[in-house]
Amino acid sequence: MSTPTSAITSVISERDAEPRRAISHAPVPDAPAQKISVRDLNFFYGRTQALYNITLDITERVVMAFIGPSGCGKSTFLRTLNRMNDTIPGTHAEGHVEIDGANIYAPGTDVVELRRKVGMVFQKSNPFPKSIFDNVAYGLRINRLTNSKTELEERVRRALEDAALWVEVKDRLKSSALSLSGGQQQRLCIARALAVRPDVVLMDEPASALDPIATQKIEELIAAASSICISTSRRLR
Ligand SMILES: Nc1ncnc2c1ncn2[C@@H]1O[C@H](COP(=O)(O)OP(=O)(O)OP(=O)(O)O)[C@@H](O)[C@H]1O
Ligand SMILES: [Mg+2]
Repeated sequence: MSTPTSAITSVISERDAEPRRAISHAPVPDAPAQKISVRDLNFFYGRTQALYNITLDITERVVMAFIGPSGCGKSTFLRTLNRMNDTIPGTHAEGHVEIDGANIYAPGTDVVELRRKVGMVFQKSNPFPKSIFDNVAYGLRINRLTNSKTELEERVRRALEDAALWVEVKDRLKSSALSLSGGQQQRLCIARALAVRPDVVLMDEPASALDPIATQKIEELIAAASSICISTSRRLR
């Protein structure tokens, strides 16, 4: 984001048009707690700088959208919030990102736990070459978040319902996820991210491969999210 200030200003003004979810940075007595605090964040792909001096705060239970032209750094910024950029060789971040008061770039940070807490739906959907059920159950199993088969099945069903996919797949849960359409694969990845009930959800262009009805369902899900949901899009309604 070479012009981070203007990008974020446009977000705030969009949300101010909708008081129910308006974002205000002015201190108010009973304001919700601050969830994410970013200070002087710079990010580099090798020697190429992609993010410049980003400073912003995100309070609890808000939806914040980052809007900007292609290539301005929206995806890069989202990935700095759960250190997914660490998986790209030759990259590094400078600055400070705190979530719940803890610097996520501090030495010794458990990035596996961080990514469970800060889930992500990627711009390009990336289902695992496994069944539909196993994709959604994946995080629940590796994090041992359920105690019984029944509970696992219930959490999978709930996540698929939340992602507006259950009706289309309930009779083919054992089919390969790769047999789904592009839009269905995107909703499957949303279900996979939601299944572990992350504290923060990073959604990178969550509706880019969806038709208007599925888009509306995902927007309703975002609006109703009890956890923080950060979305990036060229345009949100
Ligand atoms: N893996 C990478 N290696 C090198 N440069 C990268 C990499 N990923 C992104 N970039 C560069 O970083 C800059 C920001 O890219 P990013 O993907 O964050 O933009 P974006 O705002 O999400 O764009 P879009 O709207 O097209 O998704 C671009 O100049 C891009 O070329
Ligand atoms: Mg992007």
